[in-house]
Amino acid sequence: MSKQSAHMIVLGNEKGGTGKSTLAMHIVVSLLDQGKSVAVIDLDGRQKTLSRYLENRQQYISKTGAGLSCPESAVVPQSSHQDMKQRQQEEQDSLQVALDQFQSDVDFIVLDCPGNDTWLSRLAHAMADTLVTPMNDSFVDLDLLGQVDARDFQVKKLSHYSDMVWSSRQLRSVGGKPPMDWVVVRNRVLSVHSHNKQRMDAALTALQDRIMFRYITGLNDRVVYRELFPKGLTFLDFKKVQEASKTKMAHVATRYEIRQLVEGLRLPLD
Ligand SMILES: Nc1ncnc2c1ncn2[C@@H]1O[C@H](COP(=O)(O)OP(=O)(O)OP(=O)(O)O)[C@@H](O)[C@H]1O
Ligand SMILES: [Mg+2]
Repeated sequence: MSKQSAHMIVLGNEKGGTGKSTLAMHIVVSLLDQGKSVAVIDLDGRQKTLSRYLENRQQYISKTGAGLSCPESAVVPQSSHQDMKQRQQEEQDSLQVALDQFQSDVDFIVLDCPGNDTWLSRLAHAMADTLVTPMNDSFVDLDLLGQVDARDFQVKKLSHYSDMVWSSRQLRSVGGKPPMDWVVVRNRVLSVHSHNKQRMDAALTALQDRIMFRYITGLNDRVVYRELFPKGLTFLDFKKVQEASKTKMAHVATRYEIRQLVEGLRLPLD
């Protein structure tokens, strides 16, 4: 019997390299671990980071026979058609094909957007039940949400990205869909307590009231998040694979922070 529509988790922002694909991979593996069925749609047809991560996982499974789960996945390429309208139509059609393939069969679809403003990214934002926007703990990254006064943290101006999310929300509302939950995730957080961290808290608090997101602390800045890509693994897999012998206390802390991140997203798991 086919299920209700899948819950759509979109990883998006308009800044490169903040951790969208890394967080996407960890969210996917965590959901699979919890017995959920998940499909991945990669909208970054140029870099294909998440698809490459998953290919590496498949190869690792074939080589080692490890009992790891893998999601179904598809890449939606950007169209190269000269005419903008035709280009948009082609991309919309390709996205629809991918959605039709998965939508009624899985609990969650995770869509990974590129770090710039594309038509596919806009389409994905308009269908996000949960929008996950990673940002590094820096005032440079904060600008992707809006400008905040450095002294009193008053919001001075919203960014193009925040405006785009606002339009996506309106589109959802017109379409009779429930409101999107927009979660800004602080990624690559430094474990040391710093003045910058406190100021980021104040600025994000000012912004969240104005543009209706909630922010959570995501992953610490750890080399380990970069190391496992070639094997297609995350720390959540370590109890099931041979690498388990290398588990140290730091790895326990890492797994804990990944779990906290996914819990913070408040996804419908029942
Ligand atoms: N918590 C973390 N600690 C350390 N390194 C990280 C962390 N999160 C991401 N990285 C590294 O930061 C880089 C960018 O991450 P990622 O590719 O996930 O970002 P992205 O937002 O998907 O980028 P793009 O916009 O180009 O698609 C990668 O080298 C990744 O390994
Ligand atoms: Mg990416």
